[in-house]
Amino acid sequence: MDRFQNTGQPDWDWWGRVWPTPGATLRRLGLRHGDRVAEIGSGNGYFALPAARIADPATVYAVDVDGSLLAELDAFAADQGIGNVTTVEGDARALPDLLPEPVDFALLANAFHGIEDRAAFVEAVAAALTVDGRFAVVNWRDSPREETTIDGEPRGPPTALRLSPEATRRAVEDASALRLAQEADLPPYHYGLVFER
Ligand SMILES: C[S@@+](CC[C@H](N)C(=O)[O-])C[C@H]1O[C@@H](n2cnc3c(N)ncnc32)[C@H](O)[C@@H]1O
Repeated sequence: MDRFQNTGQPDWDWWGRVWPTPGATLRRLGLRHGDRVAEIGSGNGYFALPAARIADPATVYAVDVDGSLLAELDAFAADQGIGNVTTVEGDARALPDLLPEPVDFALLANAFHGIEDRAAFVEAVAAALTVDGRFAVVNWRDSPREETTIDGEPRGPPTALRLSPEATRRAVEDASALRLAQEADLPPYHYGLVFER
């Protein structure tokens, strides 16, 4: 399976400095109790686990190509008594085939920059949503990488791969019937866009 470019799972020590309250971030993006969720490129669950607490009792499908990260996610979920997260190993470009049901909320965090054929990917996401489902994209801002530092160390994808909010909006809207419904500043270094039909 092909991995998206520059989409390694960050270590949770510095990731926690960027995202001290991931559940609050998800609520800001509109995630609600009872939403069926797909986190696309979930890694080991930094967002999927808080999403499961919010969505409970609905299921959060944590989709990733990396089975070892998903095994870590399963172990964290068991330790934390979270029973409504289901890990799905597969290529996100086949999302509708990977999920057993449409979802109300699809989240793509920190991976859109690495997807080459964004149009095909967006079409797959749109096909996996319920009629009134939402698609939330969280991206690093398109600032130079040397300016997005944590403890003095540059973090995030290479500058050349970063996408502005406008470029992300165009990529989603040109490929689907989804339209921008909400834009959120997610300091220090991110933004979030939420799309719906
Ligand atoms: C930068 S990490 C972000 C993890 C998590 N979303 C977060 O923000 O903490 C991106 C994840 O996307 C996954 N990934 C890369 N290519 C993928 C693909 N084609 N299909 C599904 N997941 C993929 C990687 O394995 C990695 O876990």
